[in-house]
Amino acid sequence: MPEIKTLYTQEQIHTRIQEMSQEIARKLPQEFMVIGLLRGSFIFAADLVRALYAEHCKIQMDFMTLSSYGDALESSGQVVIQRDISESVAGRDVVLIDDILESGRTLRTAIDILKDRGAKTVTVAVLLEKPGKLQTKVSADICGFKTPDVFVIGYGLDYKNYYRELPFIGVLCE
Ligand code: IMP
Ligand code: MG
Repeated sequence: MPEIKTLYTQEQIHTRIQEMSQEIARKLPQEFMVIGLLRGSFIFAADLVRALYAEHCKIQMDFMTLSSYGDALESSGQVVIQRDISESVAGRDVVLIDDILESGRTLRTAIDILKDRGAKTVTVAVLLEKPGKLQTKVSADICGFKTPDVFVIGYGLDYKNYYRELPFIGVLCE
């Protein structure tokens, strides 16, 4: 097992998620829909919705899987739906959750899909943001931590689909 340097501890993440849930509860009406982008956001989404419960929010939850599409020679940067939500978002206030905002292509695509389908509002909440990496116009309304420009793992984030189960966020030391 390679060494993993902790960047954000379980306690730091827990505290920050409580603050984020308070911010969301202040911003949104009591009832709204939460959509998590799979797979990376599953742990963050699970902790965030339980924190929202403590803030007396009334939520419905759904998930969507988006993936970057490309061939072996070059990534087209195009994002496609692999698994869609099953709820209607028309007229709904939506909180869209992702693990990390990097190029912004995933979130830009998800926001456009939800707006096209008539979502009343789309509020973006990400656990992490890597500053200076945006390739498209998008911003998170609520962000947990601004990370340094390193590849992070854990708490849902993977390297080759490993390490998602780590209860903290870390960096691989090779
Ligand atoms: P983007 O904002 O469209 O570039 O995509 C962000 C997605 O890339 C995230 O949802 C992650 O799945 C993945 N990603 C970006 N940076 C990292 C990282 O440092 N560690 C693990 N996954 C990452
Ligand atoms: Mg992801």
